[in-house]
Amino acid sequence: MLFTQIFKISDYNFNDVILKCAEIIKNGGTVAIPTETVYGLGANALDISAIAKIFAAKNRPTDNPIIVHISSFEQLNQVASDVPKNAFNLMNQFWPGPLTIILKKSLLVPYITTGKLDTVAVRMPLNNIALELIEVANVPIAAPSSNTSGKPSPTTAMHVYNDLNGKIDAIIDGGSTSIGVESTVIDLTQNPPIILRPGPISFNQIADVIGKVDIGYSDKVSYDKIVRSPGMKYTHYSPNAEVILIEGSHKNVLEHIRSLYMDYTNQNKKVGLLMTDNSLLNLTANHFYLGSIEETSIIAANLFKGLRLLDDMYVDIILADGSFLQEGVGIAAMNRLKKAATAVIKL
Ligand code: TXA
Ligand code: MG
Repeated sequence: MLFTQIFKISDYNFNDVILKCAEIIKNGGTVAIPTETVYGLGANALDISAIAKIFAAKNRPTDNPIIVHISSFEQLNQVASDVPKNAFNLMNQFWPGPLTIILKKSLLVPYITTGKLDTVAVRMPLNNIALELIEVANVPIAAPSSNTSGKPSPTTAMHVYNDLNGKIDAIIDGGSTSIGVESTVIDLTQNPPIILRPGPISFNQIADVIGKVDIGYSDKVSYDKIVRSPGMKYTHYSPNAEVILIEGSHKNVLEHIRSLYMDYTNQNKKVGLLMTDNSLLNLTANHFYLGSIEETSIIAANLFKGLRLLDDMYVDIILADGSFLQEGVGIAAMNRLKKAATAVIKL
């Protein structure tokens, strides 16, 4: 068991906290860091034993590669090789920001960081704390989301603490992350390039810069199958409660959630609601308001917080309202909800 130091960072102690945490990184330790998307669990990307600590703390399968975060274009050459032109076009447009680019790895990056792959995922985060820490530590920082593997990603330092206290060296508390879902991941080692994870930078934004791209992620669950076998378990972003996602028009979704709520409550289940309006608030206190259906940025920012909050209320079942717009970051929010869901009901 480690003693996890918690640094609440502000304008007054900024340099001091960065220096202390940069020391920890340089000495092969682990520091949870805020980024614009979610909190990451950082360690020196080039240090095999430091990276091993990330896998151990998160209980992460060792074949799951970790994103390497950089603070400057000089560092890019340290971690990647044969960087294609379309990568530079994307970086110029979206870095620093929530786009992770998969490139051929350099010899310096150890295989433990890349899950034994010859490619490396790289991103430059849009967050002063993260950028400054990388700069001062003077090494690229590998950082997966700072949650226990399989749990919703952390958007506050408290989420990190709840999962990883005693397992990591430090947490920098920089407040709530602004975007709330993880970066878009695109693989530029394939032709055409493939989007592996939808995120804050949309398919269209990417296509505008580099032309043809493919979609390589699958949240296209077979609804028939899922509804017939609701026991099917996803192991991503999952709270302890069972999550049932209901998709369709707002009105239909509300009606269906109301009736499911009644059914489950009659079966003595404790039910939590993750909602895009407050019209069912009279039913239960176990209610979390995500944002209204057109406020997709707000919904994304609140999503993981809502899942964790309802879990903290020890509900058995979370009924998730999937009637928000499938535009912009709403697509990423829906992708995460589908992965968290035990069952998906499409009305
Ligand atoms: O916004 C984010 O990306 C956050 C913050 C902390 O930067 N990080 C994050 O990391 O979400 P993680 O480890 O939770 O998700 C990284 C994803 C995983 O699905 C991983 O499999 C994929 O990126 N990935 C990383 N390196 C890869 C590679 N070389 N090839 C294919 N996929 C890769
Ligand atoms: Mg993750």
